[in-house]
Amino acid sequence: MSTIRPAPVTGPALGFPTGFRWGGSTAAYQIEGAATEDGRGRSIWDVFARIPGAIAGGDTGDVACDHYHRFRDDVALMAGLGLTAYRFSVAWPRVQPSGKGPASSVNQAGLDFYRRLVDELLGHGIEPWVTLYHWDLPQPLEDAGGWPVRDTAARFAEYAALVHGALGDRVDRWITANEPWCSAFLGYGSGVHAPGRRDGAAAVAAAHHLLLGHGLAVQALQAARPDVEVGLAPNLYAVSPATGTDADTDAARRIDGLANRIILDPVLRGRYPEDVLADLTAAEVSDLGHLREGDLATIANPGTFLAVNYYSRYVVAAGTGRQLPSAWPGSEQVRFVGRGWPVTAMGWEIDAPGLAETLVRLHREYPPLPLFVSENGAAFEDTVDAGGEVQDPDRIAYLAAHLRACHDAIAAGAPLAGYFVWSLLDNFEWAEGFSKRFGIVHVDYPTQRRTPKASAAWYARVIGRNGLADG
Ligand code: FCB
Repeated sequence: MSTIRPAPVTGPALGFPTGFRWGGSTAAYQIEGAATEDGRGRSIWDVFARIPGAIAGGDTGDVACDHYHRFRDDVALMAGLGLTAYRFSVAWPRVQPSGKGPASSVNQAGLDFYRRLVDELLGHGIEPWVTLYHWDLPQPLEDAGGWPVRDTAARFAEYAALVHGALGDRVDRWITANEPWCSAFLGYGSGVHAPGRRDGAAAVAAAHHLLLGHGLAVQALQAARPDVEVGLAPNLYAVSPATGTDADTDAARRIDGLANRIILDPVLRGRYPEDVLADLTAAEVSDLGHLREGDLATIANPGTFLAVNYYSRYVVAAGTGRQLPSAWPGSEQVRFVGRGWPVTAMGWEIDAPGLAETLVRLHREYPPLPLFVSENGAAFEDTVDAGGEVQDPDRIAYLAAHLRACHDAIAAGAPLAGYFVWSLLDNFEWAEGFSKRFGIVHVDYPTQRRTPKASAAWYARVIGRNGLADG
């Protein structure tokens, strides 16, 4: 740890429930590197990153944070911060390069890496939380049609069972899919993420098959271990109309439907929202032919908790025209409006009350489930100062405000049981490459030197007192 002096946490002391998880979050392609080592196959991100112009700066995840080779040091760093939990993802092509097939198609060297990582975590008293799918579909499965194709859901469940078979003796907490909305609508709708397809109908089908994959994977894990702790990690948004007009209110309904309810309602209520299906069919985006009898019964199994990724609020207004390609099939006319609020380096407005709103909404409108914030954090323009330190007061303010929002949500009755900061390390931020830094630990990519930022020391203090406090 460096000698950074943490910025004081101001405001009244706010304690969190006993046993509250304090975690850090990462994802395989964003940190591991070692893209061709020990039998790892190619994922859609390996291929997409090589398309000229796809990624800022032409960056790739080939080396990333070299976590594959440095995981022991990284776990020691986590332990130094006092993290009680660590959420990472398994790279599907590292353990099953072809994405399918018999047990003999499993890459044991890949599984061994995750066994070593988990053992290292457990050895430091850090609870491993394994995300099975954080966007790195094996390229052979994309070549066979990808998520718009039904078979991919079945392949995912097989892979989930395989990973559980290898790690289930030492991992209690599982997340099926990270942010199915992004995989479906950025990957197959707007095409800004891998695999870069631009087809609204394909995006809608992909969303369904991701949810089906979730449901089948929960079944597989529960069959292997009835008391398994497993959940989904959608990215959720607070959504508000820019004005009180009927047109803006309808725009907010559409975006809430396409961003939040299209994921939450099937999983938690066993049905798609009628208004969303009506929007899609009215706009002739999809004939919904991918929906099959019995699918919803499979999807309507959230597992045992819900994990929430939260970054910002959408403020929307009615507009005209259809700008394509779009991540909002059938609702392309909706405009996203800035309020002039402070933004992060991603341009996302900072709206901590939106996190409380999101958690309380889940608590009030959906069936009861323990909740976890599985991602929350911010990119800012960090620099290493002359003393070798990274002062990031904006990130500390962001995190503090959002933890206050968590506290507010708990006070309002939401059963929130943990918080994972995005991210432990600066990393490969998808289409933004390495240009955006989300870490509480700075990574100097040429040397791979890790420098805990002031926010890391601040977070360690929050964890140490199980809450926010004065001074
Ligand atoms: C989320 C992703 C995560 C990271 C953050 C900033 O959408 O799950 O991998 O990129 O955004």
